[in-house]
Amino acid sequence: MITNEFWLDRWKAGQIGFHKEGVHPRLIEFWPILPQRSQVLVPLCGKSNDMIWLAEQGYQVTGVELSSLAVVQFLGDNDLSYETHQEGELKIHTVLDLPLRIVEGDYFLFSEDNFDACYDRAAMVAMPESKRADYVAHTLSRLSPTASTLLISLHYEGDKQGPPFSVDEQSVMTMWGNNIQKIASEDLAQTNPQYKEGNYQFFNETVWRITP
Ligand SMILES: C[S@@+](CC[C@H](N)C(=O)[O-])C[C@H]1O[C@@H](n2cnc3c(N)ncnc32)[C@H](O)[C@@H]1O
Repeated sequence: MITNEFWLDRWKAGQIGFHKEGVHPRLIEFWPILPQRSQVLVPLCGKSNDMIWLAEQGYQVTGVELSSLAVVQFLGDNDLSYETHQEGELKIHTVLDLPLRIVEGDYFLFSEDNFDACYDRAAMVAMPESKRADYVAHTLSRLSPTASTLLISLHYEGDKQGPPFSVDEQSVMTMWGNNIQKIASEDLAQTNPQYKEGNYQFFNETVWRITP
């Protein structure tokens, strides 16, 4: 059962194989050009460096993350000065030198809306099936009617039990609605040595754009 405790324990144990040094190449390749200062939401952000890249492009970035350890590591690793205040059950960490906030707490308690864009890497696929459709609906409710989302999903065949969970293309399209477009796909079992060893028949990483 994937509970909040599960994630907090993973951070405590340092089991964060999902974290990547550097910026995800698909983000750089496929992020849409948006007006400066557009508000970008990064749900379940971990300590992803992708947020730094987005903030450096001039967007106002808001990451949401459950684990205080992830937040502390993100701020420390990137040597960021910040101020913190409490809003209800959420802690808001506002970075002083970059247009970036990390909201610490349960994403399902995060109710700000009207974001111009959303970046989901390893967030939807971190959610167990029982919560996944709620996660997508909650995310869509945070976005403005004209918002653009870049989503990276995984679909694989093999012994692995998630997270990351395998989510097939039909399920992705059903959850995110009609305005979804597949823009790239790569079978990591063919191209990436880490997955080649994993005995997968396929391990597809697919990039989607969701626009109004
Ligand atoms: C697979 S990691 C992905 C992190 C990040 N997106 C990345 O690309 O490195 C999923 C993250 O979601 C966080 N998380 C899980 N459930 C959450 C929730 N309900 N609210 C906020 N964060 C959550 C976990 O602590 C973990 O850091």
